[in-house]
Amino acid sequence: MTSSKRQYEDFKSHAKAYLGPSLFILSAFLSLLSIFFVFSVLLAGKETPKSTEVGKQFGEHGSQSTTIKWGPFLVPASSEGGGMKQWVLNNVEKPCTDCLITFIQAGLEYPDGSYANSDTDMWLHHTVLFDTTQPDPACPMSNVSRIFASGNERTPVDLTGNIAHKTGLYISPATKFSTLVELMNGSPEAREAILTITFEYIPGVPVDFKKTTMLWLDVGGCYKSSDVPGYENAIFEYASEPLVSDIAGIIVFTGGHLHDGGTHVDILKDGKLVCNSTASYGETAGYIDGNEAIKGMPHVSSMVTCLSAGALGPGEAVSLVAHYDTKEHMAMKEMDGTISPVMGIAMVYIMVD
Ligand SMILES: *[C@@H]1O[C@H](CO)[C@@H](O)[C@H](O)[C@H]1NC(C)=O
Ligand SMILES: *[C@@H]1O[C@H](CO)[C@@H](O)[C@H](O)[C@H]1NC(C)=O
Repeated sequence: MTSSKRQYEDFKSHAKAYLGPSLFILSAFLSLLSIFFVFSVLLAGKETPKSTEVGKQFGEHGSQSTTIKWGPFLVPASSEGGGMKQWVLNNVEKPCTDCLITFIQAGLEYPDGSYANSDTDMWLHHTVLFDTTQPDPACPMSNVSRIFASGNERTPVDLTGNIAHKTGLYISPATKFSTLVELMNGSPEAREAILTITFEYIPGVPVDFKKTTMLWLDVGGCYKSSDVPGYENAIFEYASEPLVSDIAGIIVFTGGHLHDGGTHVDILKDGKLVCNSTASYGETAGYIDGNEAIKGMPHVSSMVTCLSAGALGPGEAVSLVAHYDTKEHMAMKEMDGTISPVMGIAMVYIMVD
């Protein structure tokens, strides 16, 4: 798959490559940078009415499922900055208040409600949800907390392990949400797209439920860019710094994020594997590139997640190792033909004792 797919001469594909498709950033750097915008810039993106129905889990506790839509966002033509644009929406609607969020998944659609993905050249490059009233547990220098993120692979975050764990992210009446979203359009015309985030939640905190918190692991470290160099036709890996827990709890959900070229993320506790988050490519039509220049290129379409990864005690450290094999899976490239930066991130959600 090498030679024919290394045709990156077209500007669009270069731009796309540069911007690194399957990633969500989640660069702490970008996230933190954006925080400034959170408080200084108000951007587009009207919210459209949300739909609410009975949740699939914990119906006995009155659980609800709701999809909040943000947009439409006018995503620029590929000739303008590679068709990339970021928006930060401050103090957005919360799915619920005084409640536990048990499930979150991001999506992307066109204004007519149809599915948007790389086959039609529209990417959910990344989105991050912040609680702007709490410091980040993994990065105390940051006074806003990352509570969820998604790249184009759109990993569902189920904190309950199919109701094995009675837990959720607590949203207090004081909690304020901000949404950061970056979209990418590979088409020569500007087009609109809508970010969707589906939540399930339980009103209140039922008596036997515990609250969850999230630790963000990143090979780029805390408060820096997540981007690290990628290499062509090579096997390489990056490790994060260990993050020492100051809480006791159970890891109820964890999963990794890689760019194209990545094979798996080892998520470790005190150096021992607790989750092998493996990447899959091109599993559905949406993840087979439709852009002329790289038509047929499969992109990361899912990451294995672990719904129960054991206990975590104070003093124990979590860390990750992100593995790449760009012989096995083609990586994205820069304008000059060099391999784009790559990432290694994991979200570790902990049900606090
Ligand atoms: C976050 O911290 C910075 C630097 O200490 C400060 O300037 C800013 O006002 C803080 N933001 C909030 C929302 O507290
Ligand atoms: C994780 O899964 C990958 C892909 O299946 C495999 O190659 C790798 O050896 C696994 N890692 C560990 C530590 O078992």
